[in-house]
Amino acid sequence: MAKISRLSLLTCHLSLFLAFLSTSTTTTRGVSLDLSPYPSPSPVPKIKSNFTYVCDPLRFADLGLDMATFSYCDSSLPYTVRAKDLVDQMTLTEKVHQIGNLAYGVPRIGLPKYEWWSEALHGVSDVGPGTHFDDLVPGATSFPAVILTTASFNESLWKNIGQVVSTEARAMYNLGRAGLTYWSPNINVVRDPRWGRITETSGEDPYIVGTYATNYVRGLQDVEGHKNAKDLNSRPLKVSACCKHYAAYDVDNWLGVDRFHFDARVTEQDMLETFLRPFQMCVKDGDVSSVMCSYNRVNGIPTCADPKLLKDTIRGEWDLHGYIVSDCDSIEVIVKDHKWLGMDLDCGVYYTNFTENAVMQGKVRENEIDKSLNYLYIVLMRLGFFDGSPSFMSLGKEDVCTDEHIELATEAAREGIVLLKNANETLPLSSDKFKNLAVVGPHANATNIMIGNYAGIPCKYTSPLDAFSAIGGVTYATGCDDVLCKNESLIFPAMQVAKNADATILVVGLDLSIEAESMDRVDLLLPGNQTQLINQVAAVAKGPVILVIMSAGGVDISFAKSNPKIQAILWAGYPGEEGGHAIADIVFGKYNPGGRLPITWYEADYANQLPMTSMPLRSVEHLGYPGRTYKFFNGVTVYPFGYGLSYTNFTYQITSSQRSLNVKLDKYQHCRDLTFEDGAYRPACPAVLVNDMSCNEEFEFEVEVEVQNVGSKDGDEVIMVYSKPPTGIARTHAKQVIGFQRVFVPAGGSKMAKFTLNGCKSLSVVENNGYTLLPSGGHTIMVGDGAISFPLHVNFRY
Ligand SMILES: *[C@@H]1O[C@H](CO)[C@@H](O)[C@H](O)[C@H]1NC(C)=O
Ligand SMILES: *[C@@H]1O[C@H](CO)[C@@H](O)[C@H](O)[C@H]1NC(C)=O
Ligand SMILES: *[C@@H]1O[C@H](CO)[C@@H](O)[C@H](O)[C@H]1NC(C)=O
Ligand SMILES: *[C@@H]1O[C@H](CO)[C@@H](O)[C@H](O)[C@H]1NC(C)=O
Ligand SMILES: *[C@@H]1O[C@H](CO)[C@@H](O)[C@H](O)[C@H]1NC(C)=O
Ligand SMILES: *[C@@H]1O[C@H](CO)[C@@H](O)[C@H](O)[C@H]1NC(C)=O
Ligand SMILES: *[C@@H]1O[C@H](CO)[C@@H](O)[C@H](O)[C@H]1NC(C)=O
Ligand SMILES: *[C@@H]1O[C@H](CO)[C@@H](O)[C@H](O)[C@H]1NC(C)=O
Repeated sequence: MAKISRLSLLTCHLSLFLAFLSTSTTTTRGVSLDLSPYPSPSPVPKIKSNFTYVCDPLRFADLGLDMATFSYCDSSLPYTVRAKDLVDQMTLTEKVHQIGNLAYGVPRIGLPKYEWWSEALHGVSDVGPGTHFDDLVPGATSFPAVILTTASFNESLWKNIGQVVSTEARAMYNLGRAGLTYWSPNINVVRDPRWGRITETSGEDPYIVGTYATNYVRGLQDVEGHKNAKDLNSRPLKVSACCKHYAAYDVDNWLGVDRFHFDARVTEQDMLETFLRPFQMCVKDGDVSSVMCSYNRVNGIPTCADPKLLKDTIRGEWDLHGYIVSDCDSIEVIVKDHKWLGMDLDCGVYYTNFTENAVMQGKVRENEIDKSLNYLYIVLMRLGFFDGSPSFMSLGKEDVCTDEHIELATEAAREGIVLLKNANETLPLSSDKFKNLAVVGPHANATNIMIGNYAGIPCKYTSPLDAFSAIGGVTYATGCDDVLCKNESLIFPAMQVAKNADATILVVGLDLSIEAESMDRVDLLLPGNQTQLINQVAAVAKGPVILVIMSAGGVDISFAKSNPKIQAILWAGYPGEEGGHAIADIVFGKYNPGGRLPITWYEADYANQLPMTSMPLRSVEHLGYPGRTYKFFNGVTVYPFGYGLSYTNFTYQITSSQRSLNVKLDKYQHCRDLTFEDGAYRPACPAVLVNDMSCNEEFEFEVEVEVQNVGSKDGDEVIMVYSKPPTGIARTHAKQVIGFQRVFVPAGGSKMAKFTLNGCKSLSVVENNGYTLLPSGGHTIMVGDGAISFPLHVNFRY
């Protein structure tokens, strides 16, 4: 066991131990080609010049080297040959100095240092040491938190944001302010409503998370004209993205259980069906160039030391074209706390030292390090680090925070914001009628709260207060001293303000002091006296009360939903630098909201019914735990997954659909059993293994829907398509999303939306033995909330 773990640890190509070594090197930024010898991480000289690339003969000449003698700079050779040449010239000591996030370079052979760690979750961020802002580039466009952008259900928006972020990243790289390798996005599935990192994710549905990942990664990585390069290992990259944290990671710190020590007990069924699916889509559909393994253990084994999860699955089954990185300091955690490596290895404190010793002692093959380095250099070659990138060379300062980019950030917030309540069609307000507004609440003047975590410095902020002040007369009261709202004495002044206003906008919610990395929630309520603030302000308000919630996770606001004095409710996630702008546009009808909740909003009592550490998605009967997510929870919700209203109404009509899927089996495709509920009808051939089938056009089916806007306002509608397995199959999902589209439909008009689906993906179920099976019999396809559905019969014939 120990031996296996040690070897696989080395396939986590980057130990981030060196992040600690380099804490004093906060001035080490970007792409400086400084060649000071390692290991002297501090002090590091300031960046001397704008970007240049490695294989520049003049650069070599400056170093007293002749570039022609280094094959790794021969651009006529394949990347594999060049990377091997580079690695083969290094001594063992030199090699181990390249496998931390700060790669020291090898001055002797002209290889500069490189900082691997940059972040770009929803805009270029300065969280990693590879990126920084200063007078030259004071900020970058800060898009809404991913959970809100996901709520737009607009794939082209997701990709578009990735393209803008990578353009700004490239521009900053050219100016020596950023790296080329971004450890984003976070594609863990939201299993529990208390999780502190919901803000970073795309919600609770694995297919949606995987679809978001694919689009965002393609937006970051793809270079026009090279999306489908023949050799994917040498496909050029705009920047390199990283899907993280692999896998089954979604406990940060819950009542003393922290992510470093948490051992997620996960069944193979949940692993395949829920936790791995987005990663599989990210690697296979998004062709991401990096995957990061997580802090936690899965069934006793640290994910970063599990050869089955890393080597067999990511490289073997999914054929990753890129590198695998460990989460920051998770190797140290394995060593220190799990004693996983400490058992029979003198690993010391730093990975660099450990690796060298381990090789010398014959415990690790140097060849393993070579392999890792080859993966790393091929990614850098694809990024133009060695040869330059003519198509991006011209990007500079003027390409960051452009008006178009800021407008896209506003558009993302507008598209994501979800209308949860609109009694008597109170919204939109007309600016002629509502001239004096009370803008109230702890988030009424939100600025940095709107950009959440893994953010950079935004170009600017438009707070709700700014935006409403631009429309009418505004009186402002915080109502609470901060989001925790421990002091009720500020409620009274807020009530006074609401008493005199034509309308009251109450902006409340959570922030990073409630839900964050390393901090899970303990309940699903608004903090402190916020509920009291809302009720008391609503009780005395002269005009309509519009409640705006900023949060990532769901909040039990049943009290507001049922309070007739609160006419409208909006969920605004963490809406990014232009959040206030987007909220005001929606309140005053410049934009008709169309966002949908990407997570279930449970009632508060849900948090009392099961511990956060219980991993199963399905209910655990003998412990009384309910199921998780819309797929397995059948109780009452505050708002269900997929919920969202509009200022207009839409109706659907299925215009064409296939009613059966006839699959001819050959003699090598055997019928498989499925677990059925007691007494349920069992077909003669219950199912066939998906892996045994071609899954080609024969398995495709189409659904065509006509959406009519029957109201009086133009608007966007998100069409969700679900499948439901045949009745009688035990412990399977109630339904699952198999497709979605956001369409714009003018008032009185209609739009056709066509979905081409594949039975292997859209109708399959994962059995508790880990087989993915296509069941025969009567599946159901549902469009929208289920009001429209039709049967789809799967028949197997020999
Ligand atoms: C890079 O070049 C630009 C314009 O040529 C200049 O304004 C900027 O200061 C340079 N950056 C550095 C780090 O020298
Ligand atoms: C989807 O997003 C794009 C921006 O990338 C936008 O142009 C388009 O209008 C959006 N579609 C809908 C239906 O809102
Ligand atoms: C790592 O090894 C170097 C060289 O042998 C040594 O000087 C250094 O103290 C070691 N670092 C630690 C933290 O053990
Ligand atoms: C709103 O917030 C900004 C930024 O924090 C601050 O400068 C401004 O004074 C605040 N406005 C009011 C009215 O408190
Ligand atoms: C509550 O807020 C009021 C008004 O700002 C202040 O005078 C009082 O000291 C605060 N009380 C506490 C306990 O912080
Ligand atoms: C509400 O405010 C009062 C003091 O003003 C405080 O004692 C109480 O704990 C607060 N309530 C909550 C739920 O935080
Ligand atoms: C909606 O309008 C009706 C009739 O004017 C009124 O009785 C009712 O209280 C209103 N409801 C809300 C939530 O404003
Ligand atoms: C949508 O339809 C419902 C039910 O028919 C109706 O009560 C409501 O007024 C309509 N809303 C709009 C915006 O047309």
